[in-house]
Amino acid sequence: MKKSLLSVLIPGMLAIALSAQDATRGGALYKQQCSSCHGDALQGRSGPPLAGGDFRSRWPAADLIDKIKNTMPLDNPGKLTGGQAADLSAYIQQANAATPAVAAAPTSEFAPTGNLNQLMRGIMFPNSNILFTVQTHDPAEKKKAGNAATADGGFNWSMWGSDLYPGWDIVDYAAIALADSAPLLLTPGRRCENGKPVPVNDPDWIRFTKEMSDVGKAAYRASQTRDQQKVSDITGDVADACLHCHQVFRDRFRRGAGRGAGAASNKELRCTKN
Ligand code: HEC
Ligand code: HEC
Repeated sequence: MKKSLLSVLIPGMLAIALSAQDATRGGALYKQQCSSCHGDALQGRSGPPLAGGDFRSRWPAADLIDKIKNTMPLDNPGKLTGGQAADLSAYIQQANAATPAVAAAPTSEFAPTGNLNQLMRGIMFPNSNILFTVQTHDPAEKKKAGNAATADGGFNWSMWGSDLYPGWDIVDYAAIALADSAPLLLTPGRRCENGKPVPVNDPDWIRFTKEMSDVGKAAYRASQTRDQQKVSDITGDVADACLHCHQVFRDRFRRGAGRGAGAASNKELRCTKN
């Protein structure tokens, strides 16, 4: 955060007065725009808690202001002014100053960066899509991607770099990515988007993680045969491995809301079983 001229001229008292004022304005704004998802006491609801744990060390002031300004409120981002984001940050930091600095969350040099949804979208989703593509496309007949920047409407992770490796190698890498990223589902300290901890000690969760790892290994073996049909056949097992876990831990439906497409899944229940 840039120092204001006044706080440089009259350090100490005035700086405290200024930040207290910011925090008060931030508190009012927080109630209007943030508490519905993050809770009245920053304890978290459908959004993660904004106090305690390792929050303070993960979000230095300047980064926190950027995070808020660019991505929050989640359902209507980009509308806050820099001043409002700074007020909100001051309010959240004041609340965190009152909570113990020693993190309850496990401290590790390899602490997770993303929530579970982000991990799924970043690794599991694109790599299983590559495997599913084998159902309809022979990897041996990989077409030239052309200019990836324009061929498919712009930035696209299935086009970008697709000229670098032969088609079957890409299938290998996708299978390996699924198998070897499975342990990331067990990293302590990761949270789901709703703020609930990923249930890394739950026996069902561990079983489903193992299933994904095993199916990734099986897909790799199939890919090594360079037989399109064999890989195509195994994609059913890949889909099942994803589905088995999603049925229990992700796609939680409100009672009476139906289960078909369009039924609202209850995000607050994700990552829990009851
Ligand atoms: C519609 C629900 C919703 C609203 C409203 C909302 N948030 Fe969030 N917020 C989330 C979710 C979900 C996440 C986790 C995903 C992410 O980081 O983008 C999150 C993440 C955050 C984080 C990062 C937390 C962490 O531990 O990394 C901060 C800080 C935050 N929100 C601040 C705010 C502030 C300040 C407001 C009000 C201006 C706000 N949010 C409004 C849902 C919401
Ligand atoms: C061990 C359990 C588990 C396994 C295995 C698993 N997922 Fe997930 N997945 C989840 C949970 C729980 C969520 C919701 C995460 C959250 O809300 O933060 C999720 C979310 C997702 C999302 C994001 C959904 C959204 O709302 O945008 C995608 C995409 C996804 N998973 C794809 C996959 C694919 C593909 C596989 C199989 C290769 C897979 N997942 C395997 C538990 C699992």
